Amino acid sequence: MASGVPRRRRGPGRAEEAAGGAPGPAPAPLRFPGLILYLAERRLGRSRRAFLTGLARAKGFRVDQAYSPEVTHVVMEGCSAAEASSWLDRVLGPSGAPQRPLLLDISWFTESMGRGEPVPVEGRHCLGVPLATKSQVDSASLPTYACQRHTPLDHHNLCFTEALETLAEAAGFEESQGRSLSFRRAASVLRALPGPITSMSQLQGLPHFGDHSSRIVQEVLEHGVSREVERVKQSERYQTMKLFTQIFGVGVKTADRWYREGLWTLDDLQGQTRKLSRQQEAGIRHFEDLSTPVWRHEADAIQRIVEEAVWQVLPGATVTMTGGFRRGKLQGHDVDFLITHPVEGQEAGLLPKVMGHLESQGLVRYQHTRNNHYQDTKDLDHMASRNTCMDAYESCFSILWLPKPSPSFYQKSGEGPKEPIRDGKAVRVDLVVAPISQFAFALLGWTGSQHFERELRRFSRAEKKLLLNSHGLYDPEKKESLPATSEEDIFSHLGLQYITPEQRNA
Ligand code: CTP
Ligand code: MN
Ligand code: MN
Repeated sequence: MASGVPRRRRGPGRAEEAAGGAPGPAPAPLRFPGLILYLAERRLGRSRRAFLTGLARAKGFRVDQAYSPEVTHVVMEGCSAAEASSWLDRVLGPSGAPQRPLLLDISWFTESMGRGEPVPVEGRHCLGVPLATKSQVDSASLPTYACQRHTPLDHHNLCFTEALETLAEAAGFEESQGRSLSFRRAASVLRALPGPITSMSQLQGLPHFGDHSSRIVQEVLEHGVSREVERVKQSERYQTMKLFTQIFGVGVKTADRWYREGLWTLDDLQGQTRKLSRQQEAGIRHFEDLSTPVWRHEADAIQRIVEEAVWQVLPGATVTMTGGFRRGKLQGHDVDFLITHPVEGQEAGLLPKVMGHLESQGLVRYQHTRNNHYQDTKDLDHMASRNTCMDAYESCFSILWLPKPSPSFYQKSGEGPKEPIRDGKAVRVDLVVAPISQFAFALLGWTGSQHFERELRRFSRAEKKLLLNSHGLYDPEKKESLPATSEEDIFSHLGLQYITPEQRNA
């Protein structure tokens, strides 16, 4: 066994390290609060570690010289999962820690440096499946509903959740909603665990683990992959359905029809223009841009464009980023915004004017704006009592054009994502307008994740006999709506501990 870093540690202590400690470029101001890196010295070697530390700090990452429980991401090179895991056990000591850091391969670090920001953690970055060590997971205390749990974005069980979520997706393609939900729930449970699953005994007592999901976990534990999942991923059916449902405006039903008609590629679709809606046509035209992730800085740039248009039309209105970015995601498939105005009623009819303004700037590639479906905003009881997840707000599903920032932008900030020279990028943008009296419900409903929302509604109905949607919370027995001015109010009506957006990644 190689010696662990703490024993060989020679660098400055924690108090000194803010002053530097690593040679190379000057540290930049911290850009990623909440992310604390630790580069394990073993295998990396001392001088390479110092070099990489300097590099990361120059890009605004916080890198600690010494390990502490504050560290969120441990980066290691040439380490097996078992080595990484036993290293961590030694560092944490006999009492362990309630929350373990992520153990990541150097590839995650390299990609993040190339990108100039932390890339989302994927299965391939994780140090495989750790061998059974002592149990880190106290399964007995995990509640049943996802809305009762804290689910961070980065977690410790990616190799299992990726497998289970692939099966959930594949079941969805076959419209087996029940099966899809079972896999989804099992995966969501693993996302909430404080450490990695290392042996089958840890599944005992976990909610939502049926035979099938358990079998998948066992396969991954024993072989590193699940043969069933690999078979699904390689099937023509799965790959085609995944490709088609990725197109803006194409759902499972349409994708399935095309597949059965023998259409399998985007080229096949383009030869069949008659069959496409205006939305699907736009989706295919911009397929390349729309299938590239939207990055956080691009979402921020879109927000500035939308805000400018909104304020032209209605000064005093507010634009709030919702969806995955509000949950702390670094990239998304679109950008979601919720718009309101402090004076009830002022917001009505806002979107057509906002879209007109954006259109006059040449920034709209596609849009479908919908009026609100409610007669007047006093109609809340009716809206809240509709037991459907579709809301009735004024909304717009669009593709906007994000012009490439001028070169001087990147010169000033010193760096930028390395992208091919293009004059811009098409981005999917969802806009929703809510009157201020329903804002808290709309915010909660549009922040997601989709599974978290589904679980919130299920919990309300089954445990509290209340109906929750993006318009309100309705008590069908008393025939009245419960008012809320913040998300905290809604959790409190439901008798739930408040969960911050960053912990709703169920
Ligand atoms: N939503 C909704 N009604 C729709 C579409 C979406 O209420 N017609 C809600 C979803 O329940 C989710 C939120 O809007 O809570 C964001 O949805 P979406 O953009 O699809 O997903 P994200 O979580 O933002 O993930 P991504 O990064 O892939 O966009
Ligand atoms: Mn989104
Ligand atoms: Mn969306």
